[in-house]
Amino acid sequence: MAIIFNEKNKTFHLQGQNVSYIMEIYPTGHLLHNFWGGKIEKSDGFELSTFNLDAAYTAMQVGEEELSLELLPVEYPAHGNADLRTPAFDLEYSDGGRISDFRYVRHTITSGKAAIKGLPSLYTNEGQTVDTLEIVLKDEVKKLEMTLFYSIFEAEDIVTRRVELKNLGTEKVIIKELSSACVELPHHEFDMIQMSGSWGRERHVQRNSIVPGGQYIDSSRGHSGHEHSPFLALAATDATDSYGEVYGMSLVYSGNFKAGINVDMRYNTRMQIGINPFRFSWNLEPNETFSAPEAVLVYSAEGTGGMSKKYRDIYQSNLIKPDYKYQERPILINSWEAFYFDLKEEELGEFAKTSSELGMELFVMDDGWFGKRDNDQTSLGDWFIHEGKFPNGLKDLSNKVKDLGMKFGIWVEPEMISPKSELFSKHPDWCIETKDRVKSLSRNQYVLDLTKPEVREYIISAMRKVFTETGTDYIKWDMNRSITEAGSSSVDANQQGEVSHRYILGLYEILEVLTNEFPNILFESCAGGGGRYDAGMLYYMPQTWTSDDTDAIERLFIQEGTLYQFPNISMGSHVSACPNHQVGRTTPISTRGVVAMQGNLGYELNVLELTDAEKEEVKEQTALYKKIRGTVQLGDFTHLKVNDSTNARAWQHLSKDKNQVVASYVQILARANVAPKKIKLVDLEGTARYQLDGTDSIYYGDELMNFGLTTVRIEKDFESQQWVFNKLAD
Ligand code: DGJ
Repeated sequence: MAIIFNEKNKTFHLQGQNVSYIMEIYPTGHLLHNFWGGKIEKSDGFELSTFNLDAAYTAMQVGEEELSLELLPVEYPAHGNADLRTPAFDLEYSDGGRISDFRYVRHTITSGKAAIKGLPSLYTNEGQTVDTLEIVLKDEVKKLEMTLFYSIFEAEDIVTRRVELKNLGTEKVIIKELSSACVELPHHEFDMIQMSGSWGRERHVQRNSIVPGGQYIDSSRGHSGHEHSPFLALAATDATDSYGEVYGMSLVYSGNFKAGINVDMRYNTRMQIGINPFRFSWNLEPNETFSAPEAVLVYSAEGTGGMSKKYRDIYQSNLIKPDYKYQERPILINSWEAFYFDLKEEELGEFAKTSSELGMELFVMDDGWFGKRDNDQTSLGDWFIHEGKFPNGLKDLSNKVKDLGMKFGIWVEPEMISPKSELFSKHPDWCIETKDRVKSLSRNQYVLDLTKPEVREYIISAMRKVFTETGTDYIKWDMNRSITEAGSSSVDANQQGEVSHRYILGLYEILEVLTNEFPNILFESCAGGGGRYDAGMLYYMPQTWTSDDTDAIERLFIQEGTLYQFPNISMGSHVSACPNHQVGRTTPISTRGVVAMQGNLGYELNVLELTDAEKEEVKEQTALYKKIRGTVQLGDFTHLKVNDSTNARAWQHLSKDKNQVVASYVQILARANVAPKKIKLVDLEGTARYQLDGTDSIYYGDELMNFGLTTVRIEKDFESQQWVFNKLAD
C-alpha cells in the first residue's frame, strides 16, 4: 500500500517513489495538512509548527484555548469560524448562515481508483500501484458529509484529489464554491507559473513572483479558454527548468475554473484549483451528492522540466483513451487554410492525390461541407451534406481518398446553432439564453443548450448519422465561441448558477456516448484553436488542435506552454503557407517543418500551389517524420537549455528505449558576429555510440550531453537545425 495510516499519531501518509503527502487528524477532528514534497521514507508523524500566540487578532476555537485554525495549515479550510483566510469552499444554508465546521468521521484506504460518475478522471492500468484514501468529514449541525478523495500513483509520483459533498440533512444547501484541491505551503518564496494568452497565442508560459494577498487566473467564458489554462504551478524562486522544487495543480475539467494562490499574513501560501465560484451556485437538496472535478497534483524536485515530464507522462498513460495513447498518429492534411469555405469536389480530389504523393496519410475536410455553409453566417446545426458542393454526397470523395490509401476525416461543430439554419427555425428555444435578454452573437452563431436532454439527444443522433454515413476515420470537433448570457429554461430561476457546469456535464455525456460508440474514429478537439485544450477534453479526444496560429515562431511559445502539461502525441501542429495567415510572417518551410515535428505533424496549405522545390522538401519532411514519429509521439520530450533564451529554442525527443534521439534548434532572429551555440542533449547512455542519421559521424552519449552539439552559422531570420541520432549496437 502506498498509503499509510499511523494510528498513534493519526497521520495519513501518501507515499510515491519520490513524493510524500502527509495529513493529520487534529485532536479536535479537524484535518490538517502536514507536508507535500520530497519523499519521507519513514515517519512517525511530526509536529506541526505550533502557532505563535503573539499573533494577535486571530480567533480561538471555543473550548480549545490553544487552537486557532487561522494559525494552522487546514487541509480543506472553511471561512468564518476561527480561520478568516481564503477558504477552499463556501456553503450557504437555508437560514442564511455561511459557517461550516467539518470534522473527521472515518476513512477508508483501498487499492485502485474509481471513476467519477459523469466526469472525466485519470484511470489506472494493470500493474500500476494506485491506492485511494477517502476521508469523510462531517458538519454535525447541518448534517453534511464531505468526502475528500486522494489517490496516489506510486511509481508515477502523482496525487489526484477531488471532493464530494452529500446532504444528509433535511434542508437544501447552496454550494457557492467547492475547490477540487487546496494545499497550504509553509512559505511564500515562490514564483507562480501560469499558461496565458488569447486566441492565436495560447498558453504562453508566464512566471511571476508572488506577494502577500491573492493572485489567480480563471475562466468565466463557459469553456476553459484561450486566456488561461486550468493549471497552476508554484516554483521555488531558485527553481530552473531542471533543478528545484515545483508544485503543480492541473484540473481535469473543461468549463469555468479558478486557480490561484493566497499568501496570508504569516507568509504561508495557499494554492488551490477548482470550478470558478464566480456566478456559480449549486442547489444541493437532501440526499443529493455533488462531485467536484478531479485535480492532478505533481511535485518535482527537478524543476519545471521534472514537473512537466510527469504531467505529460500521466496524461498520456492514464488519461488518453487506452486504444489511442500509444497509437502513432497519421500525418494529416487539412483543407481549412487551403480553401476555407470554398470547397470544390474535383479540386479536393486533386488536393488529396497530391497530398498523398507528398506522404500525407489523412485527408481532413474542414468547415464548409454541410447545410448551406458557404460562409460562417449559416447552417450550424444542419448536419446534412451541402448538395451544391457535393451533389452525390461525400461517398465519391471519401472513396477517392481511401483509394489513395489515405484515411478520410471531417470537421463538425455540434454544440452550435446558426440563426440562419433549419434547426433554428424548428427549435429557436434550444439556445443558451437568459430570459428577456438579447442573445449575443459571436461568429454569427449561438450556443446550443446542452443542459436540455432533447438537445443532447439531437446532437448524438445527428452526429451518429454523419459519422456513419460519411464513414469518417477522424473527427475534428470544434467549438467557436464563448458562452454569453449563460442561462437556461431547463432549470428554475434559483438554479441559473448551475447552468455553466450543467453545460459541461451535458457535453461530457454526449462525448461519452459518441466516443464509445465510434471507437475507431480518431477525435481531435478544437475550440477556435486551443480554447479548450484541457485534461477534461483530452480524456475523450486523444488529440487537440493547439492553436489557429500556425506561424512557426509564434508556435515555439504556444507549444512550449502546451507541453508543460500535455503530451506531444496530443498536440496538433501543422505546416502552413507563408506569408502566415495569422501574423503575416514568412519563415522557411524547413523551420515550419522542424517546429511542427514537435507534436503531431500535419499540413494546412494548398499543396497544389507548392513549387517543385517545396514539394521535394515536404516529401523529405514526411519521410523523416515517419522515421522519427515513434520517438516524437511515444518518447520522452525535454526542452533544452540554449544560452540565448530570448532568441532561440531547442528541444529533444528521446525514444523510450533510448535508441533514437532527435534534437531541434530554432533561432528567431539572425545576429551578426555571435559565437555558435552549444546544445547539450540529456538522458543518453554516456558510453553508448550514436550515429548522426545519413552520415558516418559517430558520437558518444557523454560527448552529446557534456560537450553538446554546435549550431551552424545562421545568416537569416527564423532558421533552424535538426539532428537525428540512432544508437549503435554495442
Ligand atoms: C476554428 C478552427 O480552429 C479552425 O482550424 C477551423 O476549423 C475553423 N474553426 C473552421 O471554422
